[in-house]
Amino acid sequence: MLRVGELLRMTATFPSLRVGGADDLLEVEHLLQAAGLTRDGLDACARGGMLLVARADDDCLMGCVALETFEDAALLRSLAVTAGARGHGLGSALVARALDQARAAGAHEAWLLTETAGPFFAARGWDAADRAAAPAGIAGSVEFTSACPSRVPVMRRDL
Ligand SMILES: CC(C)(COP(=O)(O)OP(=O)(O)OC[C@H]1O[C@@H](n2cnc3c(N)ncnc32)[C@H](O)[C@@H]1OP(=O)(O)O)[C@@H](O)C(=O)NCCC(=O)NCCS
Repeated sequence: MLRVGELLRMTATFPSLRVGGADDLLEVEHLLQAAGLTRDGLDACARGGMLLVARADDDCLMGCVALETFEDAALLRSLAVTAGARGHGLGSALVARALDQARAAGAHEAWLLTETAGPFFAARGWDAADRAAAPAGIAGSVEFTSACPSRVPVMRRDL
């Protein structure tokens, strides 16, 4: 489990974590593609201000994560860190910041789909979940209905 002090240190290492928008979309798409993730449904996140981006001092995109909220449930998606920046806490910091946003938006639980990073999320408080148990908004999202095949594992956590 991530220690609070460790998280603060990591967040301080990446001061340019900020809310992204339409201007970030092209680079975010490239990062997602390089990480093997879909961009389907991403525009709605950018429009809703639920896209977070991390940029280096030279403005180069290092990481991103997106969030969709459906009443009291949030869907975390599009988490990616550029290959050269992995292993230094940025992925964890992006998730933590996104979940803070989800709580601020009134969400009490978070859901995600992942084929590649189950152990990463399990180590950060997420549990495997039954797709059929997802709240209606999550179940009706682009990720659940069309972007990810039904075999992709589902995870959830309380917020
Ligand atoms: C998952 C990802 C965002 C993690 O970013 P990161 O910046 O390396 O994450 P952190 O530095 O905060 O955490 C690194 C730790 O997570 C572990 N980890 C990273 N990716 C992992 C994975 N796919 N499965 C299991 N563990 C993973 C690392 O081994 C490391 O462990 P340690 O702390 O014990 O050394 C990054 O690996 C990535 O972009 N992967 C490709 C896209 C992807 O799978 N996204 C998730 C889809 S929902």
